[in-house]
Amino acid sequence: MIETHVLKPTGAALQEAAATLAKGGLVAFPTETVYGLGGDATSDAAVARIFEAKARPGFNPLISHVSDPCAAFMLGDFDARARAVAEAFWPGPMTLVVRRRDNCPISLLASAGLDTLAIRVPAHPLATALLRSVGRPIAAPSANPSGRVSPTTAEHVISGLAGKVSIILDSGPCSVGLESTVLDLSGDIPAILRPGAVTREMIELLLGSVSPAGASTKIAAPGMLKSHYAPSLPMRLNAKTAKEGELFLGFGNISGPTGSETLSVTGDLTEAAARLFALIRFLDRPGATGIAIAPIPEVGLGVAINDRLRRAAAPRA
Ligand code: TXA
Ligand code: MG
Repeated sequence: MIETHVLKPTGAALQEAAATLAKGGLVAFPTETVYGLGGDATSDAAVARIFEAKARPGFNPLISHVSDPCAAFMLGDFDARARAVAEAFWPGPMTLVVRRRDNCPISLLASAGLDTLAIRVPAHPLATALLRSVGRPIAAPSANPSGRVSPTTAEHVISGLAGKVSIILDSGPCSVGLESTVLDLSGDIPAILRPGAVTREMIELLLGSVSPAGASTKIAAPGMLKSHYAPSLPMRLNAKTAKEGELFLGFGNISGPTGSETLSVTGDLTEAAARLFALIRFLDRPGATGIAIAPIPEVGLGVAINDRLRRAAAPRA
């Protein structure tokens, strides 16, 4: 166990967080998608600490975060196509998988021995300031114990990782609420490995045809592990109403029994994504027999929401 400090995002807190990262320590910090558990991506020891804190299977590669696209171009091979995607979607909820450059300093442990690299430039002022201040790539998976629901507030991080991380920077709830889209550009055909707020339609406007999540046979990614984001209660999808003993998570203006919640009163998918993980945590409480969840339209951000819901509902490994 180590001592965990929860800090409001002041200049002094940023300095302390940057110094902790530079020394190989762990800092949880907000991004626009979810809170990340950050460590120096160029240090095998720091990356090993991340795996240990999350109790994460070692074969799952991590995303390296940098403050701007130029820093990303130093680490990976960005052809014209990758640069166009970077220009269109960075900073933002988009992770690109590209080939490592020969002199790439990222720990091989962070990319699980692959010859590719996942890189992201987050769009969150505090994340950007922290990354600038450290001046090196920061590996950061979602700041939750492996297999659990991703954190969208500092309180979520505290509940899962207190005693395992030196600093938690608290900057309130994340605006997107779902992990970034992961787009593999290392092969001939761009492939979505994990759906997110940057949708397939948005990418296809730029690149033409892109293979959707689940279509690629190539990868073994935690996004690909069937059971992921698992709450303790069983979840039942596409439910019209709750059965006896179940709590209900609706979509739209619902009038359910006590204990019912809605992802968005107005049926707004962006709001639903931002609230999804917090509401799953809120409803995942003793006494109920399960969580019934209303159907979510499989369009736009709904694709990513349904992806996370299917994983949360999948039989546990
Ligand atoms: O929104 C996010 O992406 C958050 C915030 C903190 O940035 N991070 C996040 O990291 O969700 P993580 O480690 O939970 O998810 C990383 C995803 C996984 O699906 C992983 O398999 C994939 O990226 N990934 C990483 N490196 C890869 C590689 N070289 N090839 C294919 N997939 C890779
Ligand atoms: Mg995760």
